[in-house]
Amino acid sequence: MSKKGSKNKKNRIEIKRETTGVTSLSIEEQLKEQIEAPMVRLRYACAIDVMQAKLRMMNVDLTEQKSRQVIRNMSSRIKTTDSIIKKLIKKERKITFTEAVEALNDIAGIRVVCYFCDDIYEVAENIKKQKDLRVLKEKDYVKNPKKSGYQSIHLIVGVPVTYLEKTEEIRVEIQIRSFAMDYWAELDTQMCYKKDAGQIENVEREIKAYSDVIAGIDYQMLELRRRIEKM
Ligand code: GTP
Ligand code: MG
Repeated sequence: MSKKGSKNKKNRIEIKRETTGVTSLSIEEQLKEQIEAPMVRLRYACAIDVMQAKLRMMNVDLTEQKSRQVIRNMSSRIKTTDSIIKKLIKKERKITFTEAVEALNDIAGIRVVCYFCDDIYEVAENIKKQKDLRVLKEKDYVKNPKKSGYQSIHLIVGVPVTYLEKTEEIRVEIQIRSFAMDYWAELDTQMCYKKDAGQIENVEREIKAYSDVIAGIDYQMLELRRRIEKM
């Protein structure tokens, strides 16, 4: 091999393909090819579908029980390859498909937005009660908000996905937050979180202060709802 070729080999992996023979791909390209393979994406998409169906049914029951809507809206996403690479680098992991699948809990993600801040605990508790789900990790950023002011409950849940002959557990990150928490987080994402503007001292202080104000109003609205319910 030429000198140039051996230098390149450092960042490139040779993989054998049945149809095209040996091809040289960068580690990023190789990860992209594996993570974006239709069958891999389909597994995560199925896990999201199974979990969202459960959440919809839960919402029907809770709505009937409380005579009001509990979940306002739900959204989902499969993490992009670029975000997967960024996160692996942040976690100081190797950029490989196996590392991505093992180390990352949020390749499949669902966000559940509830009307009131007590609803989010109700949804979280009901998820924990489901016998065919395994709650692998729980983070309560409402009781312990992040330094930025971010509030939400995060659950990492193992969702069973059944094929013809086997059942596989796929991890899904569920972020549960109130409408008010979502308002703050969405604006924070746009202004700070993805741009690291939260590192600037004044911005950091201001965005945290607004989170406290919004949390205060969220709680006052809950108190008002409780007073109305007693009338
Ligand atoms: P794991 O424990 O491996 O899941 O680490 P992690 O860094 O993914 O977990 P973390 O609990 O920090 O959750 C990350 C996700 O929460 C992000 O992808 C965002 O959606 C959200 N998030 C966390 N912190 C903030 C924040 O300060 N602002 C906003 N807007 N979103 C945040
Ligand atoms: Mg996460």
